[in-house]
Amino acid sequence: MQSLDLTGIDLIKEAPIQEPQRQYYYIAKAKQYVDRLAETLGRTPTFCVTTFGCQMNARDSEKLVGILEQIGYKEETNEENADFVIFNTCTVRENANMRVYGRLGQLSRVKKKNPHMMIGLCGCMMQEAHVVEKLKKSYRYVDLIFGTHNIYKFAELLATRYESGSMVIDIWKDTDKIVEDLPSERKFSFKSGVNIMFGCNNFCSYCIVPYVRGRERSRQPKDIIREIENLVADGVVEVMLLGQNVNSYGKTLDEPMTFAQLLQEIEKIEGLKRIRFMTSHPKDLSDELIEVMKCSKKICKHLHLPVQSGSTRILEKMNRRYTKEQYLKLVEKIKEAVPDISLTTDIIVGFPGETEEDFLETMDVVRKVQYDSAFTFIYSKRSGTPAAVMENQIPEAVIKDRFDRLLKEVQDISSKVCSVHTGTTQEVLVEALNDHDTSLVTGRLSNNILVHFKGDSELIGKLVQVHLDECRGFYYIGHRLS
Ligand code: SAH
Ligand code: SF4
Ligand code: F3S
Repeated sequence: MQSLDLTGIDLIKEAPIQEPQRQYYYIAKAKQYVDRLAETLGRTPTFCVTTFGCQMNARDSEKLVGILEQIGYKEETNEENADFVIFNTCTVRENANMRVYGRLGQLSRVKKKNPHMMIGLCGCMMQEAHVVEKLKKSYRYVDLIFGTHNIYKFAELLATRYESGSMVIDIWKDTDKIVEDLPSERKFSFKSGVNIMFGCNNFCSYCIVPYVRGRERSRQPKDIIREIENLVADGVVEVMLLGQNVNSYGKTLDEPMTFAQLLQEIEKIEGLKRIRFMTSHPKDLSDELIEVMKCSKKICKHLHLPVQSGSTRILEKMNRRYTKEQYLKLVEKIKEAVPDISLTTDIIVGFPGETEEDFLETMDVVRKVQYDSAFTFIYSKRSGTPAAVMENQIPEAVIKDRFDRLLKEVQDISSKVCSVHTGTTQEVLVEALNDHDTSLVTGRLSNNILVHFKGDSELIGKLVQVHLDECRGFYYIGHRLS
């Protein structure tokens, strides 16, 4: 990322009211403190951002890293050696929550040894009042707590923390604001997530996301296009458009626009080679979108279409607003229009009231759709959601048994489905050197499957033709043709 030009900023004056200029001012201000810290330490101070949860959080973390680098911190991969540790948290399931408390406990030991160390917490968990209460009471050594709606204010909050020397907490209940043009640092040089909308209005009865991410808001198409154009100019060839329900993009804009129309605009961007998006809610997936996917040269042949359950009765209790039959029909339509598409899904096992018959309906959908892969989750009770107070919460042992059966089915099908491309030649975006064998590189097919083949780091970020020689479960071994 290019450095922000902070030279014209007069820190004697009050901070501007207007965003993003206000944040540029605080970036300059925080930088003064970090410069002073660097002098005291005799080296550049370091940070470590750990991300939990989904791609939205991953993208948010890139924004945090962008700001941290602007104010003069350097990245450190080992959390225990960093001067500033940030956890960007997730609360979609209880276990994500527990991991954060565990890691915080470990850090308290480190902080006792290095009192200048700072700890920041942000993300979805912080939007829950009981979490912040607990932190205030039992985790006094945390320095900075903020939420999902005011992440753009990170520099300002940090400057406040340096000034006050005590714990800073700033959580907003919701926002209608979208602040553009803040720095961000990409994890990959050749691909990037791009938020197209924030929040969610669906209120699936098990899900906490609408409570912690607020109401649905779409970014202006011109801002999205400009961001992607800039990314492409900076070497990006693949974008992943991000939203909790991309299919309802644009409905709340002053000049409404459909997701399919947005995709067509993005397709026109020269130099951009691949477009992915996530997540699609089946209830809002339009014929127009299927048509656009069919005709597009850039949209990848992959659709993540969370089904959650195969039982219409449970789907209704989940407030998903489609039936098993409607879902299967939609899948059929998509497969007909884009025959080589890879379909993936999310499934929850053990939703309150789920009977063996309901579960068998889910197994039936899995067999009928033949997913390339499926993320299977054990239902986790999230307080404040309607499902948390539903009767007939399912005993753990029953859930475990169903979960194991589902996982086996999903894996058997997926290894079969993945191997159908053996012997074909496909375009591959090279992503990295192989972890285990550095004479190999790892690339991704349009349908999201990975392939390993001979190559060197020169290839990273390039699109090449690869022959898929052999399928090994969920990935391929191949060789490069061009
Ligand atoms: N917006 C996306 C999903 C975001 S959460 C969508 O609607 O598809 C990612 C996944 O976590 C969900 O698809 C769901 O399968 C799972 N999930 C959400 N809440 C859960 C809960 N309370 N227990 C278990 N899994 C849950
Ligand atoms: Fe949660 Fe449903 Fe919104 Fe997805 S669509 S984030 S599952 S409420
Ligand atoms: Fe988790 Fe928040 Fe994403 S709860 S799944 S990080 S939107």
